[in-house]
Amino acid sequence: MNPLTRLVARDAATSRLLGADFVPMYRARGPAPGLAPVGPVLVEAKPEPARPEVVVVSRPEPARPPAPGMGSAMDDLRARYERDAPHSKFITAHTSIVWGEGDPKARLMFIGEAPGAEEDRCGRPFVGRSGQLLEKMIAAMGLSRERVYIANVLKTRPPDNATPTSEEVRLCAPYLFEQIGIVGPEVIVTLGLPAARALLNTTDSMSHLRGRWASFSPPSPYARAIGVMPTYHPAFLLRSYTAENRAKVWSDLRLAMERLGLKPASGNAPG
Ligand code: URA
Repeated sequence: MNPLTRLVARDAATSRLLGADFVPMYRARGPAPGLAPVGPVLVEAKPEPARPEVVVVSRPEPARPPAPGMGSAMDDLRARYERDAPHSKFITAHTSIVWGEGDPKARLMFIGEAPGAEEDRCGRPFVGRSGQLLEKMIAAMGLSRERVYIANVLKTRPPDNATPTSEEVRLCAPYLFEQIGIVGPEVIVTLGLPAARALLNTTDSMSHLRGRWASFSPPSPYARAIGVMPTYHPAFLLRSYTAENRAKVWSDLRLAMERLGLKPASGNAPG
């Protein structure tokens, strides 16, 4: 079997067995002594050993104080964002504001960098190819997208999906920080470097940040330490869908699940 056929067959087998093809699976070393081989045996990749916590002090600049409003704190914050329109101070390619969505009291929040073309069209975060992979990751954690909250650092699409500049992040992040405070999750998983850097106020590399717990405190009156687990962006995983990268992301998600007391979706448990 050529390597590509083998890869496709392995991913198909993983999907069949687990319903979540991103969970990295490796061929077991061989049948136990005395047992006849019964076809491919796949086992879940072992989580990587725990890495020491990165201590980063995040210093979010506060967004302007909330204006009195009739709606929920989230509605008020969104209205304030729309009034302030921080994105009007830089070039965008947006037709809609992609605010974020999910359980307003979710225990787990995912944060990406900025909406892409599909997200801009629908006004919803992570609905394109990256979003489909993110949904598989969430399903593998035994959750659904409705049970988590998903948002981005920038609420508007950058031209050519460019990486947000530090100035764009500086202008928009305060609204995200307050959004996090309102949801009040126990754990945040950041997807990709810009989100990790925005929350953790660091310029560290992804290889240094991912797989290690860090902490973020939203601004007053929500201030309390929230565990942050940085991992790769699904778009990176799609570009480089290797067993090694899938294992790293799954290991990061397992750490988040451990902290939340979650078990993997049935069928994803180690065989
Ligand atoms: N990439 C992101 O970072 N966010 C989205 O909403 C979609 C793609």
